[in-house]
Amino acid sequence: MRQVVDLHHASRLVNHGPTVLVTTAHGGRRNVMAAAWSMPVEFTPPRIAVVVDKKTFTRELLAASGGFALCLPVPAQADLTFRVGSESGRELDKFARHAIAAAPGPVLGLPWIDGCCAWLELRHLPERHVEDAYDTVYGEVVAAAADARIFAHGRWSFRDDNAALHTLHHLGGGAFAVPSRVVQGRL
Ligand SMILES: Cc1cc2nc3c(=O)[nH]c(=O)nc-3n(C[C@H](O)[C@H](O)[C@H](O)COP(=O)(O)O)c2cc1C
Repeated sequence: MRQVVDLHHASRLVNHGPTVLVTTAHGGRRNVMAAAWSMPVEFTPPRIAVVVDKKTFTRELLAASGGFALCLPVPAQADLTFRVGSESGRELDKFARHAIAAAPGPVLGLPWIDGCCAWLELRHLPERHVEDAYDTVYGEVVAAAADARIFAHGRWSFRDDNAALHTLHHLGGGAFAVPSRVVQGRL
């Protein structure tokens, strides 16, 4: 059910603060980590900031390859999200260890993890000053897709009948909230 998302709607995929799986690949190595802290910072072109600790292996691969991908995990992937966020890929291949299936993203060929509900590929925008001072990295979205059962026509639709595809929102210590109810504001 993966469907292309127009780039002008890409920022909506992370607008509500979902936990993301950051994937990277370079020189025959690949990796994945969890990140609770990401946010859109620009509509056009769509740009997203993600906090990726300088000490992570992800940060190393990201800088070397010039790109990264974000995959939005669903409730059945809560254990996986906690695990890949609690170990480093520097000494092990987390994809092999956790039997993570993935397909190459359409533009950069970075891993898009099967079973997630949305996916983005981003070209790294190196910001030397910011990256030296903080752990934040910036990327420009070059491809986006979502499971059409939960995100279509530029909108999320969180319902009881698609609860298995809801996004995860980290509360700390491996506990996650899911969006169980939507309140529509009216003009
Ligand atoms: C749910 C969850 C959310 C996390 N969010 C972030 C985050 O926003 N930024 C960050 O730098 N690390 C975050 N972490 C920690 C990294 O995922 C962790 O340091 C990981 O082991 C790095 O892996 P790597 O060295 O293979 O890149 C989070 C961990 C978990 C479990």
